[in-house]
Amino acid sequence: MSDQLYNNEIAFELGSKDIDESKQGNALTLERPSNVAPNGKKFYIESYGCAMNFSDSEVVASILANSGFDSTDNHLDADLILINTCAIRDNAEQRVRMRLQNLGAVKKKKKGALIGVLGCMAERLKDQFLEQEKLVDIVVGPDAYRSLPELVFEAENNNKAVNVLLSREETYAEISPIRLNSNGISAFISIMRGCDNICSFCVVPFTRGRERSRDWRSIVQEAKDLFDRGYKEVTLLGQNVDSYRFSDDPKLVGKKLLEAKYEDHVVNFAELLEKVASISPLLRIRFSTSHPKDMTDDVLEVMAKYPNVCKHIHLPVQSGNDRILGLMDRSYTKAWYLDRIAAIHRIVPDADISTDIITGFCSETEEEHQETMELMSTVRFDLAYMYYYSERPGTPAAKRLKDDVPEDIKKRRLTEIVALFRQISLERNQENVGQVYEVLLEGISSKSDKHFFGRNSQNKGVIVPALEGMKPGDYVNVRIASCTSGTLIAEHI
Ligand code: SAH
Ligand code: SF4
Ligand code: F3S
Repeated sequence: MSDQLYNNEIAFELGSKDIDESKQGNALTLERPSNVAPNGKKFYIESYGCAMNFSDSEVVASILANSGFDSTDNHLDADLILINTCAIRDNAEQRVRMRLQNLGAVKKKKKGALIGVLGCMAERLKDQFLEQEKLVDIVVGPDAYRSLPELVFEAENNNKAVNVLLSREETYAEISPIRLNSNGISAFISIMRGCDNICSFCVVPFTRGRERSRDWRSIVQEAKDLFDRGYKEVTLLGQNVDSYRFSDDPKLVGKKLLEAKYEDHVVNFAELLEKVASISPLLRIRFSTSHPKDMTDDVLEVMAKYPNVCKHIHLPVQSGNDRILGLMDRSYTKAWYLDRIAAIHRIVPDADISTDIITGFCSETEEEHQETMELMSTVRFDLAYMYYYSERPGTPAAKRLKDDVPEDIKKRRLTEIVALFRQISLERNQENVGQVYEVLLEGISSKSDKHFFGRNSQNKGVIVPALEGMKPGDYVNVRIASCTSGTLIAEHI
């Protein structure tokens, strides 16, 4: 992916793997277990939203394969059409509704085909979905995917098929995901679910429930299996990876778990990262998302110690003003955030830093917006995801604060942030010209078959001239010869 302006708001993306608000169909060869009899039905799945949703779709594919379904990458062919939805901003939901209208037309043509809505929007709207969107047959929340085969059965028998129960335990730990749309090189691994932070603007704690960490052994095993199958890069996923904590002791919950030590058989994120990094120096490890209030130096030290832990941190700041950060309930100040940035520069000096920003949050003044601009100029982010504030029903901000910045001002501030970011990212890329990087090749470049596309450890997209014998999955050392604001262009040394 290179420079790409997408969606109605000006969200801006540069050479990143974040797939916020994009979609994918399931171009996969289904690995239905040989001991499972086919049930003669095919499913099609399309995902929207963050990496967590894409990762969940792979769990869903596995659950369906284990109950006899085959898959198709053509929705016209499917008996079961699933869309895994996002509720993070209003326009994410609008996009899903539009897609449902299109899919509805398919359903009218193909008698008996069922439409299922999964994910965060399903969780937010629950039964209302069936009333609002008459063509929807099944509604399943993120913690209820194991019940999907039963829900299909119910829907086939014209019964109401809704399961939006959230769980305090479900991590799908032992389910081996079926990789969808995979390049065979990079894969996501969910290490935890839910979020306990309750940032005032955010719907995620309501759609994904309480935070819980997955058994570290199943995470390490999944990474090992991927490496054995030829994968070269895994991304450990959680809404706040720094608060990963797993204990074998069922009595260690809540505050006790937070206070427990490794000797109490508690594994924290730094320890998990080290365990995954130790699998092989040829397996790259990435992780997302880090939270400024929780990101500790010990995680940075593991990054510095292991060359295969990629030198990139995604550290969303949201705003550069303390009053707004307070209203957002982010639990840190600008000074704290800058201290964390200083820690990254000190411990992992070659790390790239990316962020998320929201413009026009409730009561944000022009001066407060300028402070966010100043923070961007100070930190000089390599990558940023920028949004204007979209009020989400039921969130603390919706209940407590007035969404009083007019839309044209929110958008104007966003445009200013995006323009500043483009300028900074071009300068940052220009600083990379002349440097030598190890690049993991992911595939042929979409623009030229004489070039490969890959990434350096810092997560920047690099275009590499093809040489005889080069193939996806290879590591190559190259020098950066030139750049755009979104991509580095390399030459062989
Ligand atoms: N867990 C991550 C973020 C998950 S949501 C974290 O804590 O940073 C991804 C991004 O969407 C957020 O960082 C935020 O910038 C943006 N976002 C979330 N809710 C939003 C809203 N209501 N309006 C606009 N942007 C929002
Ligand atoms: Fe949302 Fe905050 Fe949790 Fe991130 S940390 S998912 S922004 S509540
Ligand atoms: Fe969207 Fe849910 Fe992810 S709301 S951003 S799909 S956690």
